[in-house]
Amino acid sequence: MNVLDFRAMKKEGHRIALTTCYDYWSARILADSDIDALLVGDSVAMVVHGHDSTIPATVELMALHTAAVARGAGDKFVIADLPFLSFRRGLAETMDAVGALMKTGAHAVKIEGIDGHEDVIHHIVESGIPVMGHLGLTPQSVNQLGGFTVQGKGQVAADHLADQAARVQEAGCFSLVLECMPSELGKRLTELVDIPTIGIGAGPDTDGQILVLQDLAGLNRGFEPRFTRAFGQGYDVIKSAVDGFTCAVRSGDFPSKDESYS
Ligand code: KIV
Repeated sequence: MNVLDFRAMKKEGHRIALTTCYDYWSARILADSDIDALLVGDSVAMVVHGHDSTIPATVELMALHTAAVARGAGDKFVIADLPFLSFRRGLAETMDAVGALMKTGAHAVKIEGIDGHEDVIHHIVESGIPVMGHLGLTPQSVNQLGGFTVQGKGQVAADHLADQAARVQEAGCFSLVLECMPSELGKRLTELVDIPTIGIGAGPDTDGQILVLQDLAGLNRGFEPRFTRAFGQGYDVIKSAVDGFTCAVRSGDFPSKDESYS
């Protein structure tokens, strides 16, 4: 899959499945899977590093994780998040950040929001770099949004998001993440733009869906918002393997003769 396939998939009515990926070992599993593309999300700050928001993510952190993912991702299309403020400090700093992510192996970058950085998106696209937009609940703005809450409720907020979605397309983005909004609005925005929309908590009518890998694999016990679904019992699988190992060590069953050198 490459950047051109996104629009083609929307045109042909093929739904797109994305997940996040933050490291080499899970990239190797995902490279072997049917998933369409990988996002090195700045959610890495929360999921991997234990922060309570994505704000602590830096360009250096994102580049480190992008490089690890790229080494394991095979031919999967890799998108990397531009972290908090990295695209709001003028064009030169933005392009340094974009360059750092692309040079470590990303095929595209993702930018939250549009107000005040429309020209920046334009410039990145014109520099030959695919950009994925992201509207609705934009976690880098969590302090301004007043929390991780559903966006676009009510006519005025919905119309503002529709205006933003049209501008994201106009700026040249190849796709658009829609996060946490009423299903009707997810549908409206999907019908409004020609680029594919990738939903997370935006209902069933977006052109594709994305979930955090740890959520869809059932690894994130205790984090069960309405919009996620665990498609596996990863937490139990890993815990049971570790408990099995611990038990075998304690009983003297591991290592066996066959698992030892003579
Ligand atoms: O950082 C992230 O994981 C994301 C997705 C949830 C879309 O931006």
